[in-house]
Amino acid sequence: MRGCYLPFLLLLLGLLSCNATKLGFSFDLHTDSKVRCIEKERQALLQFKQHLVDPNHWLSSWDSGEDCCKWEGINCSNKTGHVVQLDLRSDWSYAERSTKYLEGEISISLLGLQYLTYLDLSFNNFFGKPFPNFIGSLTRLRYLNLSYTSIAGTIPQQLANLSRLTSLDLKWNDDLTEVYNLDWLIHLSSLKFLDMHAVNLSLVVNWPDKVMMLPSLKHLSLSRCSLSTTTPQLLSVTANSSSQLSLLDLSGNYLNCSIFLWLFNSTTSLVDLYLGDNELQCSIPDAFGSLNSLKTLYLGGNKLVGGIPKSFWNLCSLGSLYLLHNNLGGNLSEFMSNASGCLVDSLQNLQISNNRFTGPLPESIGSLSNLHMLDVSKNSLAGLISDAHFSNLSKLKELYLGSNSLILSFSNDWVPPFQLDAINLSSCRLGSAFPKWLQTQKNYFMLDISNAEISDIIPAWFWDFSPRLSFLNMNNNELHGNLANLSSSRLHEFAIIDLSTNRLDGLIPHFEGLVNVSSLDLSNNRFSGPVSFLCELNSSTLLESLNLSNNTLSGGLPDCWTYISGLVVLNLANNNFSGNIPDSMGSLVSIQLLHLSNNGFIGKIPTSLQNCSQLIIIDLGANNFSGMVPPWIGDSLPNLVILGLRSNQFVGSLPLNLCHLQHIQILDLSLNKIRGAIPECIYNLTAMSTTMDTMSGAMFRYNTSISYMDYASLVWKGREFMFQSSLGLLKIIDLSNNKLHGVIPEGITNLTELVALNLSRNNLFGFITPKIGLLRNLQSLDLSRNQLYGEIPMSISILSFLSQLDLSANNLSGKIPTGTQIQSFDASAFSENPKLCGSPLPNKCIEDPYPIYNNTRGHENQNDGFITKGFYIAASLGFIGGFWGVCITSLLNIRYIMKRLTSKARMMLQYVVEALCMLTS
Ligand SMILES: *[C@@H]1O[C@H](CO)[C@@H](O)[C@H](O)[C@H]1NC(C)=O
Ligand SMILES: *[C@@H]1O[C@H](CO)[C@@H](O)[C@H](O)[C@H]1NC(C)=O
Ligand SMILES: *[C@@H]1O[C@H](CO)[C@@H](O)[C@H](O)[C@H]1NC(C)=O
Ligand SMILES: *[C@@H]1O[C@H](CO)[C@@H](O)[C@H](O)[C@H]1NC(C)=O
Ligand SMILES: *[C@@H]1O[C@H](CO)[C@@H](O)[C@H](O)[C@H]1NC(C)=O
Ligand SMILES: *[C@@H]1O[C@H](CO)[C@@H](O)[C@H](O)[C@H]1NC(C)=O
Ligand SMILES: *[C@@H]1O[C@H](CO)[C@@H](O)[C@H](O)[C@H]1NC(C)=O
Repeated sequence: MRGCYLPFLLLLLGLLSCNATKLGFSFDLHTDSKVRCIEKERQALLQFKQHLVDPNHWLSSWDSGEDCCKWEGINCSNKTGHVVQLDLRSDWSYAERSTKYLEGEISISLLGLQYLTYLDLSFNNFFGKPFPNFIGSLTRLRYLNLSYTSIAGTIPQQLANLSRLTSLDLKWNDDLTEVYNLDWLIHLSSLKFLDMHAVNLSLVVNWPDKVMMLPSLKHLSLSRCSLSTTTPQLLSVTANSSSQLSLLDLSGNYLNCSIFLWLFNSTTSLVDLYLGDNELQCSIPDAFGSLNSLKTLYLGGNKLVGGIPKSFWNLCSLGSLYLLHNNLGGNLSEFMSNASGCLVDSLQNLQISNNRFTGPLPESIGSLSNLHMLDVSKNSLAGLISDAHFSNLSKLKELYLGSNSLILSFSNDWVPPFQLDAINLSSCRLGSAFPKWLQTQKNYFMLDISNAEISDIIPAWFWDFSPRLSFLNMNNNELHGNLANLSSSRLHEFAIIDLSTNRLDGLIPHFEGLVNVSSLDLSNNRFSGPVSFLCELNSSTLLESLNLSNNTLSGGLPDCWTYISGLVVLNLANNNFSGNIPDSMGSLVSIQLLHLSNNGFIGKIPTSLQNCSQLIIIDLGANNFSGMVPPWIGDSLPNLVILGLRSNQFVGSLPLNLCHLQHIQILDLSLNKIRGAIPECIYNLTAMSTTMDTMSGAMFRYNTSISYMDYASLVWKGREFMFQSSLGLLKIIDLSNNKLHGVIPEGITNLTELVALNLSRNNLFGFITPKIGLLRNLQSLDLSRNQLYGEIPMSISILSFLSQLDLSANNLSGKIPTGTQIQSFDASAFSENPKLCGSPLPNKCIEDPYPIYNNTRGHENQNDGFITKGFYIAASLGFIGGFWGVCITSLLNIRYIMKRLTSKARMMLQYVVEALCMLTS
């Protein structure tokens, strides 16, 4: 074919090259030699480029060639040769891979391009540079786009000169925080399009007046501009108000209901109105019924009350009504009872989810025959829904009825008139049989029938779902049987599958669609056998989250983790797995949450896990792991927030490297055989001494949304103890039930955000440091069953959040400090400390007004405990200061005190007192 035309083309080319000018054509071959570019403008462009950083040589065409009209991003007038267009919009959506972006600054040399009508520098990064004032001198501009450029400061008044501007786009420059007024705006009389999304306009008081003075304005977006309606000007209605406006987006501001007064008085032409995420706290005005052109109304995310006004039925164009996330209520059938008028035919999308609507869903909903999306989820609707509701809804694509108290009762062989794309019937009562009508639906990408009281096997036909399926949630039913029929099901990329909390059993099969699954949750079922299906995954798997916990899976872990290196969450807890952790688990370089607790794993923690440097949680508790606690945990896993090694066979001493775990919030090594001392460097666990929530931080950093509530509840399970702090701030050290000895390092009192400290059942000795009072956030303190001695420090009584305390079975002595709640603890908290006395223990301390008369030797001995060198010094100083002038008159009292002391102390004190008295007399 091509061959046939070639001679003809050559002939044509010849003709053209001779006659192009004559014929009025412009042709590349010809114009190459003719330089259109104006030298002065070329120089201006080169200077402009000098101020830019162009990391990927996007503008390399600017380096060569005389004709700047052929340079990247430039268009010239084909009449005058002037540069009229500069389009350097960056390819931002692929930011990281993009080769097209600029940094640096917008140079004043642009003023050399006086004929510019079109300037687009959007999506480049001029980080923190001020808005270029001189742009106001490019008076021929019709199109100006500086969106997403990170320019900062204010918008210059010079923009007022751009009277020919029809389109101004400044959106997503949230560093433009110093905008005091919009006075420049009223001069832009040609403006049709204005978008200032996320520019901070909180300082502008009279913004409605300004924007309403623009006679040609059709599209106005001031969303997320920190606008409020607190100014009185707002209510003054401008005479020559805009009547052209068709799109108004004021969402994400602080507007209250006075915006409505202004709105209905100023605009009648609105087609699309967005007022979502504001502070609207009134009922929806009836006056909406007069906005005849309205097609889209978005009022979601406010606090609107009352019902849906009946005047809406008059809106002949309204296609989409979004009222989600408000406090709207009342009986839905009341609104529907007036179903007549235009809206019946026009409405396509009705979204009233997350409100307080009550009553049954009326059958008349079926009269909205063009309905495409019906979302009434998360309300208080109750009652029966049957085939009749849907008999006319043949265009329905999205149906969301979830989280109401609706009972769905369809006839057994119901064939719905629709083919749905998205189905959410979560928490509806679907009856015990698996919903048969789903067999008629061949196209859905989303199905949520979780918590729906289905108690049935999953029928074989179900697995023949559309390959578009990307979200399947059937959790919390009583589905039983196995998944054998799943094997040929296909799924959409990044599918999320949740079949958790059912009674499914048998092997977990490999299935064709698994390669596309990003999250698979089969937890809380009765699956058994090995997890060899994992080995059939190849490196194209998209699996990021795998939860198989709480089943009866068994056998060793397969050694084929190399292919699943994208895994972020792996939960195999509460199963019957056994054997070692295979080395190949070290290839899970993206893993953040690893739960293997409550299985029969043995052996050492493989050193290959050092590669899993993104780990936030490791929970290996309640297995038979042995060996030392690996020192590399402290150095290779810098993001670790929870280290759970409880109830294993770990031996050796605590590696000092653990003190490097800056983010650790829960350190649980309890129920092992760990020896040695608690390292003094424990003060270095920074997250426990600051109020930072490293868990949320880590989750945010990695965009992980899985909570770790499970862990904390597991740690404290059976102790019937609820923490009062929010989970993100839970900071716990549990080293109980080991063979630790030595003293409790004082550095532990630097961890002032600790909520629970459990060192019980070890061989710790020494005093409880008086600095214990620094742990002011402690809610639970367990030091029981050690060999601690000395008095319980007074400061313990200032721990005002302490609600669980156990100091029993030590060698503590003296009087239990009196404090607001210390005495409210059960006596068992102090029991088995023979030398301890005072409330709440039954044995009273000998400290009554005249104990001297019934003193015993036993009590004398007890005093030996606290007569230390320090006591003598303190006593001496006390006497020197206090008894200087009263020694003689108080001698009786002194004798009374002395009788309580041991003979050695008495001698010493007597010596001091007599010496003093001799001096004074
Ligand atoms: C610039 O000129 C080229 C060639 O004439 C044309 O294809 C392009 O659409 C123009 N750019 C704009 C934004 O008008
Ligand atoms: C030159 O300009 C005229 C009018 O503006 C336009 O119709 C024509 O397509 C342009 N030619 C080229 C090659 O850009
Ligand atoms: C127009 O504004 C006035 C106050 O300026 C108000 O009383 C009136 O209700 C408004 N009209 C509508 C339709 O809201
Ligand atoms: C595990 O499953 C059983 C029954 O299936 C359930 O009772 C139990 O609460 C589940 N445990 C957890 C931790 O979810
Ligand atoms: C404290 O932690 C930091 C950061 O991990 C580490 O560099 C330092 O060595 C630690 N100090 C001690 C005494 O462990
Ligand atoms: C521990 O806290 C005390 C104050 O109670 C402070 O003086 C000391 O420097 C802290 N130690 C460390 C290592 O931060
Ligand atoms: C000690 O003496 C006081 C005062 O005589 C008396 O009330 C108290 O019961 C005596 N205590 C004992 C343990 O004998």
